[in-house]
Amino acid sequence: ALVSLRQLLDHAAENGYGLPAFNVNNLEQIQAIMQAADECNSPVIMQGSAGARKYAGEAFLRHLIAAAVETYPHIPIVMHQDHGASPSVCVNAIRSGFSSVMMDGSLQADAKTPSTYEYNVDVTANVVNIAHSVGVSVEGELGCLGSLESGMGEAEDGHGAEGVLSHDQLLTDPEEAADFVRKTGVDALAIAIGTSHGAYKFTRKPTGDILAIQRIKEIHARIPNTHLVMHGSSSVPQEWLDIIRQYGGDIKETYGVPVEEIQEGIKYGVRKINIDTDIRLAMTGAIRRSLEKDKSNFDPRKFLKEATAAAKDICKARFEAFGCAGQA
Ligand code: G3H
Ligand code: 13P
Ligand code: NA
Ligand code: ZN
Repeated sequence: ALVSLRQLLDHAAENGYGLPAFNVNNLEQIQAIMQAADECNSPVIMQGSAGARKYAGEAFLRHLIAAAVETYPHIPIVMHQDHGASPSVCVNAIRSGFSSVMMDGSLQADAKTPSTYEYNVDVTANVVNIAHSVGVSVEGELGCLGSLESGMGEAEDGHGAEGVLSHDQLLTDPEEAADFVRKTGVDALAIAIGTSHGAYKFTRKPTGDILAIQRIKEIHARIPNTHLVMHGSSSVPQEWLDIIRQYGGDIKETYGVPVEEIQEGIKYGVRKINIDTDIRLAMTGAIRRSLEKDKSNFDPRKFLKEATAAAKDICKARFEAFGCAGQA
């Protein structure tokens, strides 16, 4: 059944686990997530970006999610708008049947230029008003994440945002977080604690302590009833990078957020963990390998099935690691 983000994350907080929020754009990604959730009995958060609705088309995405709900009636599913850049994007998502929306007011409506704190409070409070009146949850964002905001990370220079994000002032300020929650009433808050979007997060293998764990604790202490969200949480599996390279792809040396670091975050209040890149990498690796190994094949179902299986393995591993397996 379709449930709100608040319902799922309240249960996660009461029981001390976290939930991956996987980005979806098409049939195969949705099937991979649902097959994995079914096998390990986990609740599900699927999220669509504005780009996803543009890619699939609003009606296609809506009906694909409805098909997941119908096929797996025993699994609680949240359909969440990822990075809504303006109140109108969020209202469109609500009209499309989403049970949760992210109003990302940390950026202006162009989704590029950093906004003022007052703008962020204003648009987010506005969306909370509308969303809560129809039972839809709201995620806000406070702080300066990696690639989306700064243009660093993916595609820019392949050097991720580690140099930038190590500066303390770019991390979410705990006092400001408390003020933001008081003024907006958000259900969940995306915080900047050292991650960035995309495949290029860290140029060297992380040796632990890459997240600002102390900062997570300080924020959680001030807003214990607001669920913390970690964006940019792909782990960038080295084995999939190797497969992509082995079958003709070109991916530079790069590292993601280790699963053990995410598990640390979950101990201190992180409940929603956003993952897109890992599924992209696994599907790309599986498709490259399949096409190379069976050069006479021209039935897309063959390589798409292998892509689905690869994505499903990633999802199962995250459901198990974050403690939500068995919680549906
Ligand atoms: O935060 C961004 C997500 O990875 C979605 O990316 O806008 O390319 O769909 P997208
Ligand atoms: P990744 O690029 O690390 O998968 O993060 C995705 C994300 O935060 C979507 O909002
Ligand atoms: Na989001
Ligand atoms: Zn994000």
